[in-house]
Amino acid sequence: MKINDFKLERYFGKHEFTAKYMLSSSDCDGYEMKYVLDQATKQELDLWEGITLGYSESEGNSILREAILQHYTIKSLENVIVATPGELNFISMNVLLGASDHVITVSPCYQSLYEVVKSLNCELSYWQPNPENWEFDTDDLEKLIQKNTKLIILNFPHNPTGSYISPAQLNEMIALARKHDIYIFSDEMYRKLIISDVPELPPICDLYEKGISLWGTSKSFGLAGLRIGWLVSQDTNFLQKVIAFKDYLSICNSTPSEILSIIALNHMDKFLLPNIEKIKRNMSVFTKFVAEHDIISSFIPPKAGSISFVKLNIKTSSLDFSNQLVEATGIMTVPAEMFEYPGKYIRVGFGRKNLPEVLDVFGAYLKTKRDSLIM
Ligand SMILES: Cc1ncc(COP(=O)(O)O)c(C=O)c1O
Repeated sequence: MKINDFKLERYFGKHEFTAKYMLSSSDCDGYEMKYVLDQATKQELDLWEGITLGYSESEGNSILREAILQHYTIKSLENVIVATPGELNFISMNVLLGASDHVITVSPCYQSLYEVVKSLNCELSYWQPNPENWEFDTDDLEKLIQKNTKLIILNFPHNPTGSYISPAQLNEMIALARKHDIYIFSDEMYRKLIISDVPELPPICDLYEKGISLWGTSKSFGLAGLRIGWLVSQDTNFLQKVIAFKDYLSICNSTPSEILSIIALNHMDKFLLPNIEKIKRNMSVFTKFVAEHDIISSFIPPKAGSISFVKLNIKTSSLDFSNQLVEATGIMTVPAEMFEYPGKYIRVGFGRKNLPEVLDVFGAYLKTKRDSLIM
């Protein structure tokens, strides 16, 4: 198997731990260990202190799987598997797809959602939003369906645009998928980060018998360092194949991370609500910044999630712009090239508390450089 480099992750690899400021992170600030343990009940602390560091259940600790199921209508442990989010994506595509299959994915998107599909030599079509408002049209999706379409890949809240769909649109997609007997892999990593006046989508696994939902602690919970994600599906046959594949990768999960995830899932609001507040606060600071700086030619506020994809009015490519910015100011931004998206865009993340400070540094840079940068 041959797979292309993960451009976005390589770009982060280059700058994330050397740049002074992050303006494009998709996760929220990581909570401190003390904060996590402070939320725990006596029973959860007993679990934490009683950890033994041997191998654990491949499908995930059963108390963790129960904690996960609080947030789904499905209620049987056999419908849940725990591993790292990226691993679950990688395995799912490998288990579901063969070279004769056609796949439709939202685009632009997190690279692994299409790159793993490409590595399996499948035919791939891209379902793209309207760049004027980042809305996805279900009619466009229907036009992409072929006789051999095996899988549709969704990601709402959407990375990188912050786009979201309505429950009615989700139901339309499910009806389409059911009619054509197509699986839906729904990357719901930003689930519950609802930051505007829109109804929350139910997870696809609760609605569709061939729906596969991916969620984890990285984004909504501010606990990316745990490396814990989970798949929930009504299709237990599929999930059994995922476990069998996992034997060639991590085999089982990190036990300390599993216990900390139990605490987070049992006290979700303590993790989620401060993140939502922070994202909303930062969005309003950014809105003011956009009004004062004409280098940003379009900012479509995200409906859900922690990020947006903003258009720049610049002479150079977005990659050159991002490279110059990080060099001159220490501010790391992710350019459109990392999403293979044409045009001059950068991703902006609202989940970090120092965003106002980063914008002050960005603003000072623009004061001296604006005329040489903008078109
Ligand atoms: C849409 C999407 N899916 C999956 C992931 C992977 O999550 P993790 O970094 O926790 O493996 C990310 C991370 O940025 C993402 O944005």
